[in-house]
Amino acid sequence: MIETSASGKIILFGEHAVVYGIPAIAVPVSSLRAYVKCSPSDKPFSITAVDLGNQVIEISQDNLKSDSPLHKSIDLILDYFNQKPPNVQITIKSNIPIASGLGSGAAVSAALGKALAEVLNKSIELEDLNRLVFEVEKIHHGTPSGIDNTVVVYERPVYYIKGEKLEYLDIVNPFHLVVADTGKTALTHEAVGDVRKLYEKNPDNIKRIFDQIGIIVNQAMTCMNTGESQQLGKLMTENHKHLQALTVSSVELNRLVAAALDAGALGAKLSGGGRGGNMIALAEESTLKEIKEALKQAGAKNVFDTLVK
Ligand code: PMV
Repeated sequence: MIETSASGKIILFGEHAVVYGIPAIAVPVSSLRAYVKCSPSDKPFSITAVDLGNQVIEISQDNLKSDSPLHKSIDLILDYFNQKPPNVQITIKSNIPIASGLGSGAAVSAALGKALAEVLNKSIELEDLNRLVFEVEKIHHGTPSGIDNTVVVYERPVYYIKGEKLEYLDIVNPFHLVVADTGKTALTHEAVGDVRKLYEKNPDNIKRIFDQIGIIVNQAMTCMNTGESQQLGKLMTENHKHLQALTVSSVELNRLVAAALDAGALGAKLSGGGRGGNMIALAEESTLKEIKEALKQAGAKNVFDTLVK
């Protein structure tokens, strides 16, 4: 039996603007993972998706070209190794909430890629795996920047600029993030598409917002290098305001951001595609409990904290 996994991710700064070449910062969340198990079998290749009600998906040479993300992941990896579907039964299980900005799709593809490489007794460089997962991300996102697959595949904090050499990030002072789910799923490609329309209608104004987000991202990078958490928090809240101006926040996200700030968070913002999904709040150890409680009171469906290091 072969078992692999890949982590979820949180975008700390720069979502949406990153699609237009502005830098962004994202970190992996090692406690949120997609797990893939492969067992040899004499039955045809199939995948059981535990989190989709134990749905069984048959995979054969004939349906590999279907454009579902699972088929695409498998097709790309088999094609990469020039192999036919092997006789295995795959089980996918994940504790990463789906469609809520935490990288569940990228994590499933990355874990599948690693598992199939092992089944075929081959190895794959992370750079190549990243390229394949990026291809699958296009099904989820339309025109992804590539940040999600990159942070998930390398499983390290990154300072990411589309098309440029990857920079890893050193976090000098680990910090606590509270992550709260609005309970609403939202399609990233719709939010990305709406920002595109805004940009086409009013390029100068929207570009100005992107540039301001870029300044925030670079200042945040400095704060992370020096451990200035008060300032880091302020930058998060500022970034959220720009995301509101891009119309990708929502009533629920704004309510959670306000609740976190009222409860003493150093900063708060939506994270990822927006319109639903998750928000994040920067918390000191002493206020962690209070912030989590306030977020639940404000209607968050799921709240957890993670130490970013
Ligand atoms: O919704 P998520 O977490 O998958 O994040 C998407 C991030 C965007 O910047 C909105 C899009 C992208 O491709 O970078």
